[in-house]
Amino acid sequence: MAKRNIETSGVTDPLVIKAMQAVPRHRFVSDDLQDVAYGDFPLPIGYGQTISQPSMVALMSEALGVEAGAKVLEIGTGSGYQAAVLAAMGCEVYSTEILPGLAARAKAILDELGYAVTIGTADGYSGWPEHAPYDGIIVTAAPDHVPPGLIEQLAPGASLVVPIGAAGDVQTLWRFTVDETGEITAQNLASVLFVPLTRSDD
Ligand SMILES: C[S@@+](CC[C@H](N)C(=O)[O-])C[C@H]1O[C@@H](n2cnc3c(N)ncnc32)[C@H](O)[C@@H]1O
Repeated sequence: MAKRNIETSGVTDPLVIKAMQAVPRHRFVSDDLQDVAYGDFPLPIGYGQTISQPSMVALMSEALGVEAGAKVLEIGTGSGYQAAVLAAMGCEVYSTEILPGLAARAKAILDELGYAVTIGTADGYSGWPEHAPYDGIIVTAAPDHVPPGLIEQLAPGASLVVPIGAAGDVQTLWRFTVDETGEITAQNLASVLFVPLTRSDD
């Protein structure tokens, strides 16, 4: 399938726009969804989960405020698409996925496309402390509160981008930034709708 235009409206960071244009989104969705792979809406990826819409991936990637070479953690690998965009931005990407079937499929396609992403099959609620600190953390499923361990794994000056709210409700996309003194500032970025962050003991 030929690649199509991808929606990055509102995003100005050239690194993000270039990465979004480079990553073949159709490779992260099933055969029956090829015709709608580049539409600006989420799509099912099996297991009751979704690949986020392109404009949301662009917004969250820009909100991280990272440059090439940054070490980034994603919670919620899903299809692997967001991880691929971060890798195409030149980031060193770690990504955790709680569902083994999705983690394995994402790893296979990322490997095939040549994106160097380290995937962990685990509950990412507590982050991935072994590789911390991170220059950015992005959560692509919604917890109902800020997971405290994630803030602790941010490097000075880094941001956590996370949708927060009750399952099934409209959530708020927040950016929490830690400055050099350890002070945290919070910024409300948008109203969003994500699948819930589940826990391994749910
Ligand atoms: C909206 S999808 C993510 C989309 C993904 N970023 C992509 O590009 O396709 C949310 C993902 O988070 C995963 N997830 C939910 N709770 C999790 C947890 N505690 N730890 C890791 N992954 C989790 C889900 O299984 C699902 O694959």
